[in-house]
Amino acid sequence: MDGQNKEPILLKSKPAAGVHRGDLVELRPTDLALGGAAVARLDDLVVFVENALPGQTVLAKIFKKKKNFAEARLEKVLTPAPGQVEPRCAHFGHCGGCRWQHFAYGQQLESKQRQVEETLRHLGGFAGLTVQPTLPSPEIYGYRNKMEFSFSPLRWLPFFEKGREDATAEALYLGLHAKGFFDKIIDVESCHLLPPLSSEILQEVRQFAIESGRPAYHARDHRGFWRFLVVRHARKTGELMVNLVASEYDRSLAETFTQRMQARFPQISSLLYSTTQSLSGVAFSEAEYLLAGKSTITENLGSLSFEISSNSFFQTNTLQAERLYDVIIDYAQLRPDETVYDLYCGAGTISLYVSHLAERVVGFESVKAAVDDAHHNAAHNRIGNCSFVWGDLRDALEDTGKTIARYGRPDVLIIDPPRGGMHPKTVAAVLRLAPQRIVHVSCNPATLARDLKLLCAESYRLTKVQPVDMFPHTAHIEVVVLLQRNPSSAQDATV
Ligand SMILES: C[S@@+](CC[C@H](N)C(=O)[O-])C[C@H]1O[C@@H](n2cnc3c(N)ncnc32)[C@H](O)[C@@H]1O
Repeated sequence: MDGQNKEPILLKSKPAAGVHRGDLVELRPTDLALGGAAVARLDDLVVFVENALPGQTVLAKIFKKKKNFAEARLEKVLTPAPGQVEPRCAHFGHCGGCRWQHFAYGQQLESKQRQVEETLRHLGGFAGLTVQPTLPSPEIYGYRNKMEFSFSPLRWLPFFEKGREDATAEALYLGLHAKGFFDKIIDVESCHLLPPLSSEILQEVRQFAIESGRPAYHARDHRGFWRFLVVRHARKTGELMVNLVASEYDRSLAETFTQRMQARFPQISSLLYSTTQSLSGVAFSEAEYLLAGKSTITENLGSLSFEISSNSFFQTNTLQAERLYDVIIDYAQLRPDETVYDLYCGAGTISLYVSHLAERVVGFESVKAAVDDAHHNAAHNRIGNCSFVWGDLRDALEDTGKTIARYGRPDVLIIDPPRGGMHPKTVAAVLRLAPQRIVHVSCNPATLARDLKLLCAESYRLTKVQPVDMFPHTAHIEVVVLLQRNPSSAQDATV
């Protein structure tokens, strides 16, 4: 039976079978799950509650009920959690950006450490593992060096302002996606994850777009003019890139925009106008017009400097990226005669960062523009012992013997895959490469656990685990682990 149409009933304790969709339940979450929802129990039923915290007592409405678990929407906090703090942001709770601003930072870190430990145990079978305390970010606000804002004629409003919601052709909003929406925008005034200047730029650009009379892009019917605003503010050098993205180029608008931005923000180092026809919700410059300054900005990591263009991938939390890379160096324990493969190397930042410690580093990456950036960054930093290979790793490592003949057998592998983890063919190739040590970086503990289980089935043992908080106030978890080759496997390396 579906309880959708009946009056909500308040349940404090009821067997799982008696709980239905639409029921109002009182819960006391005890933990946070991967992804950030709070976890509570109603007898033998596990209930996930979005926006709730461990330690709170809440009223929540069940909206999904399966055999072993249910999902509930937070209706009211009855008792706050001991670690609860006042969120800084006016948009907190609705914005898809942060979800834990109300959770004391120390508790965020503890929760991430616990989630890594539990995921590796449940999904990877790694029992009795010591997971180090999560490495805190040096800054917990203003830490992002890049933000992509979207234009939309649809604004998300909280329920008490519904009815004021306007979606007319003239409406234009600029900000971040509302939680769970690809088309509705929170018309952000200021984002506390960015330096304050970025929010001033956001407001100026919104005003400019409104005055232009051109419509915001509608993500459902794919019509409209203004698409994105991308602000990059290099943390170490202070250089600032502003990239306004539209569906087509308008010379007169570009000129007015340049005058206005130069007058208001003379500190901008790179002012760009880009166009894209792509239907995707990601800001990518298909064509780029340099309006003022230079086409790239420079950011530093350690003693290296990187040229970042509008489409370049670059770690968004600069100071914490250095700490992350220092953990990689610590775990890799490189010697000057060793060869390193850096799988999924992006723009080669890790390869270049560790290059002074090894004889040779070879990076592998599927995005051509990233490989071009990696070559450029190597030359820019006068680093001569790094090579970068463009190709999908599923194929690039297929013929392991050929790869080894060309680049040498790797002593150490650094692996930093996307959220989906490694393809099984890549895991098999890693085993054939048979490095002595593997430093695996992951932004998804679940796929990490899956891949480690395969690697540790015979040849490797998991010896160190370090969560690193790259994104305070969000549920994102980054983790670095060290695998060491079992002594009995040392001679078995096959090609
Ligand atoms: C998490 S990022 C790694 C970033 C980089 N290590 C850094 O610290 O800046 C993952 C990278 O893997 C690349 N990638 C994804 N799938 C791939 C594949 N099948 N083969 C090679 N590279 C891939 C993506 O383009 C992306 O640059």
